[in-house]
Amino acid sequence: MKKPAKFVVANWKMNPDSLERAKTIFLHTRRATEGIRKTEVIICPPFVYLESLGRLTRGISLGAQDVFWEPEGSFTGEISASMIKDTGVSYVIIGHSERRALGDTNEIVNKKVKASLKEGLTVILCVGERERDSQGHYLSFLTSQIQSALDKVSKRNLESLIIAYEPVWAVGQSDYRALDGRALHETSLFIRKILADMYGHSEAMETPILYGGSVNTQNAESILSEGNVQGVLVGRQSLEENFEEIIDLVEELL
Ligand code: PGA
Repeated sequence: MKKPAKFVVANWKMNPDSLERAKTIFLHTRRATEGIRKTEVIICPPFVYLESLGRLTRGISLGAQDVFWEPEGSFTGEISASMIKDTGVSYVIIGHSERRALGDTNEIVNKKVKASLKEGLTVILCVGERERDSQGHYLSFLTSQIQSALDKVSKRNLESLIIAYEPVWAVGQSDYRALDGRALHETSLFIRKILADMYGHSEAMETPILYGGSVNTQNAESILSEGNVQGVLVGRQSLEENFEEIIDLVEELL
């Protein structure tokens, strides 16, 4: 399947607190995407809303926020890739820093990636350093995070992969301190180089790289015009009235 060229991923996290409110936000975003032609908008609500929102999609895609790696069995509370697929959902976020903070290791992330690709889901793989040191240690951190997440993932599967670069120190910041566009540009080139070393130049060039971490209407323009990315993953601002401004910027600037 040929991937669209640019993306806006809305990670709702554990919000909102009722299905009614979820529908209201979803329909608001749906209206905002009516004139959008070139950008894939993917909303990732909590699992329990996926099925109901699936009846309202029209122009919007749905993603899950996590997945379990086993196909079925005695795993209380877990949800498999085939269950997600069966709900009509095509994307899944894996390796989000908030899941890693709750115990997802690189090895677990790798198992989740492989299980999801096997079921035909498109994986939005989150990677990012906890701190950006001046000696550049974060670059080797990123390298091993990506290499281990994609361990034994074949070149053929890359067409179902999107990388979301999310520096952990920028995610969920109350002052919306995102990485600036120039630094992002360098990092996205670096991520492409990691992918090129693993899979070859053309595959690396075709894998979309998104930025996430405190994206809002003020900083989105510099991220998109300077950052050398194919879109954004938006947390808190994806629940706000003005989320559509970010979608419009991606549609216009990329
Ligand atoms: P934020 O979250 O936009 O609220 O910082 C981003 C994310 O989900 O990683």
